[in-house]
Amino acid sequence: MKITVIGTGYVGLVTGACLAEMGNHVVCLDLDARRIASLNQGQLPIHEPGLLDVVLRNARAGRLEFTTDTDHAVAHGLLQFIAVGTPPSEDGSADLQHVLAAARAIAERMAGYKLIVNKSTVPVGTADRVRDTVAGVLAARGLAADFTVVSNPEFLKEGSAVQDFMRPDRVIVGSEDHRATELMRAVYAPFMRNRDRLVLMDVRSAEFTKYAANAMLATRISFMNELALLAETLGADIEHVRTGIGMDPRIGTHFLYAGTGYGGSCFPKDVRALIKTAQDAGQAFHILPAVQAVNERQKQVLVDKICARFGPDLSGRRFALWGLAFKPGTDDMREAPSLAIIERLLALGAEVVAYDPQAMDQARQALGPRAGLSFAVLADAALTGADALVIATEWKEFRSPDFAHLAATLHERVVFDGRNLFEPAELQAAGLEYHAIGRGT
Ligand code: UGA
Repeated sequence: MKITVIGTGYVGLVTGACLAEMGNHVVCLDLDARRIASLNQGQLPIHEPGLLDVVLRNARAGRLEFTTDTDHAVAHGLLQFIAVGTPPSEDGSADLQHVLAAARAIAERMAGYKLIVNKSTVPVGTADRVRDTVAGVLAARGLAADFTVVSNPEFLKEGSAVQDFMRPDRVIVGSEDHRATELMRAVYAPFMRNRDRLVLMDVRSAEFTKYAANAMLATRISFMNELALLAETLGADIEHVRTGIGMDPRIGTHFLYAGTGYGGSCFPKDVRALIKTAQDAGQAFHILPAVQAVNERQKQVLVDKICARFGPDLSGRRFALWGLAFKPGTDDMREAPSLAIIERLLALGAEVVAYDPQAMDQARQALGPRAGLSFAVLADAALTGADALVIATEWKEFRSPDFAHLAATLHERVVFDGRNLFEPAELQAAGLEYHAIGRGT
């Protein structure tokens, strides 16, 4: 099938590459000439495991093309995936200008039937706006309205996006048109050979499903973080509690990890957008503002513990900080809890030596040059001269450090673990003082 993907950000790139991997001919369009030039040189703008292989293989095979040429891109695809960014506006709602610009770009050029697929995370009702936009342009051109708009939200996780796309747990398609539905089935059938996981529904429900899923997951995390605080006060261990509740199949084991709060490009933005959607619909959403408030507080919890241990003035103290990315497996620093932790440590006068396997360049950009902040090339090097170790992201390489070495290196022999990576008894045995999240025992 001939497919065009508009937008070569995270979602667009993974979508385009994985669709090409299944034998489709895919043209990826972006207006950013630098980005397209580097993609054509085989350089990815993001770190995503496995993606480079898929991109290179399919580009070489001639099935995947990157271009800034809108005429060519629109002419190419029977299906036109819109996968452009929807950054939050100041009021928290998703900014649709790029989505609507993509819709206009298609409408201004299309000469025959096009299936327009909304892949960007967009509020309920956006497909209607895209349809109105396209219909308006076609009417001005004196052409018949030969197109359909469907919603096909994505549920990729950074760090496992290729895997998520190639073996989806479900594919949501919001379509109210038979021809469009059959085309979507045909595109996704190769990804679901063992079991049909395509869930068909009306367009608005599909748009809503995306926000509902992310809001539910964010709620679970804040709920666990709030339980963790209480567990500490009560002398219970949230890790035991997590295991205990997760074995109930109605609850399940995923997304029950207390930590330093959720970050990333999706949860914070989508929770804000859903609150705004509810407000606009005249309905107050009671749970989500609490989810947000708990998350903001959670980003402070590690530094609160540091202050409880060392006092509120941290001048003269040096901290090794392991993990900057908002989660492991990515170099993404958007809304990473580490940012809030570093900002506050520096504000309290501390020195921070940070290390991350992937995200140090992004962190440098996000934080800018700061007195007191430096970066180490290896996890071990960050420890030199530090009073304590702070862990903000659970990269695998942090999971089994040499505790004796930590105890010998850290001046104060203290570990503040924002991700509950270790068994407290093991650290105690090595002579380390261990502060984790929600582990009161
Ligand atoms: C999230 C969703 O999981 C995807 O399904 C969705 O497609 C994506 O947003 C999106 O809307 O594009 P992502 O932001 O890549 O994916 O990352 P997650 O793995 O969901 O993690 C989000 C944050 O929650 C991270 O900061 C992570 O550390 C935190 N988290 C996650 C916890 O604190 N505890 C947990 O138990 C799980």
